Amino acid sequence: MQTLIEPFRIKMVEPIRQTSAAQRAKILEAAFYNPFLIHADDILIDFLTDSGTGAMSDRQWAAMMVGDESYAGSKSFYKFEAAVKKITGFEHIIPTHQGRAAERILFSIMVKPGQIVPNNTHFDTTRANVEYNRAEARDLVIPEGKVPAAIHPFKGNMDLDKLKALLEEHHATIPLGMMTVTNNSGGGQPVSMDNIRQAGALFRSYKIPFFLDACRFAENAYFIKLREKDYADKSVTVIAREMFSHADGCTMSAKKDGMVNIGGFLALNDGQLAVQARNLLILTEGFPSYGGLAGRDLEALAVGLEEVLHEDYLKYRLRTAEYMGERLLAAGIEIIRPTGGHAVYIDAKQFYPHIPPDQFPGQVLVCELYKLGGIRGVEIGSVMFGKKDPATGQSLAADMELVRLAFPRRMYTQSHFDFAIETIKAAFAKRETTRGLRITWEPPFLRHFTAQFAPLDS
Ligand code: F0G
Repeated sequence: MQTLIEPFRIKMVEPIRQTSAAQRAKILEAAFYNPFLIHADDILIDFLTDSGTGAMSDRQWAAMMVGDESYAGSKSFYKFEAAVKKITGFEHIIPTHQGRAAERILFSIMVKPGQIVPNNTHFDTTRANVEYNRAEARDLVIPEGKVPAAIHPFKGNMDLDKLKALLEEHHATIPLGMMTVTNNSGGGQPVSMDNIRQAGALFRSYKIPFFLDACRFAENAYFIKLREKDYADKSVTVIAREMFSHADGCTMSAKKDGMVNIGGFLALNDGQLAVQARNLLILTEGFPSYGGLAGRDLEALAVGLEEVLHEDYLKYRLRTAEYMGERLLAAGIEIIRPTGGHAVYIDAKQFYPHIPPDQFPGQVLVCELYKLGGIRGVEIGSVMFGKKDPATGQSLAADMELVRLAFPRRMYTQSHFDFAIETIKAAFAKRETTRGLRITWEPPFLRHFTAQFAPLDS
């Protein structure tokens, strides 16, 4: 059969609210043309993030009922610990409430001012946590990883020559190396096993610990199975295990490939570091057997980590982004190619060539998708990354103007995606008459969350 179906059936439904175009125009105006400020109830299809937004399975909900809420040594912790050990092979497993808590703890104990942390591309919170410790977060993704239209099977790979040069010159000031799988900031692009292995070996040759930012490890493992020589006949569980075997630890936001709405962990082999990490954990997250989570959350996570490695699920998961990508490209709409694991990234510069960066083409498209179809995406361009020139007060453009549509796991069906594709095409059809936006208010940092806009012609 040619049709790939969602590998689940629906047992509980959550109605979504339809709104009229006139209502949405008013809602958008009241939210100052910033979809972060729209009530989720007024959204029809929410592609803001794939983080913590997915649907849990009946087995996960059932597991929550047997959660052991003991403060210390809960049964649920040992189930969670065994599940993480089985996949990662790491020795010390420290639960946290989400990914950034694991990052904060890891960098607080390892990173000193003036040091450099290399990564393929740091995610925003990872970068912020490195910089908070007054160190430099250095991105070393391969050149293809920065060109939306460049085709490469593993666009998330680290540039090993650059890494080698950096290590030769600065190894004494590199406290650890990181690798983000998949590379979210670069389009959800995978990293090959060969690249993980070689990067790991380079760090090891300088005795520098190497950590994976493993949020989307299962999606990455399935890309390896599909695209890398010698892995087609291996199970994703075996592939994932090998990915982790090249590292000394990982940080994890379980809100992605943990298939839960909240949760994360830090895992590592070094016993002394683990002691330091647990001490910090107690300070802000909680006792080491719950780390800011309820026992029931740990139960759901243990089941989620097993379910995410089901290959029929991963096949459907990666096909979802590919399906939307194929249809957008066929309509002449440029996206980051090939599509990654968890999202489709539309190139808003190509979409609206007449709208300059200081009129925010990505933000314009995000607003159009809401107005036309009640769809919420996020701008990743000059609103998120652009800065103000301190001398002139002019906006400085970001490298790329993108709109990310990130897909919650097991939540939307094919017709939701068809509807979204139709909406994007409708925005494309009226692109020439679509005008830019101007900022009317912005906070001093992280402006994309709360900035206010107005149409240029108002
Ligand atoms: N690392 C990566 C690669 C991520 O994508 C995220 C979160 C984190 C770390 C932090 O994890 O949110 O649990 O603290 N990414 C979300 C997103 C927010 O929308 O891409 P967290």
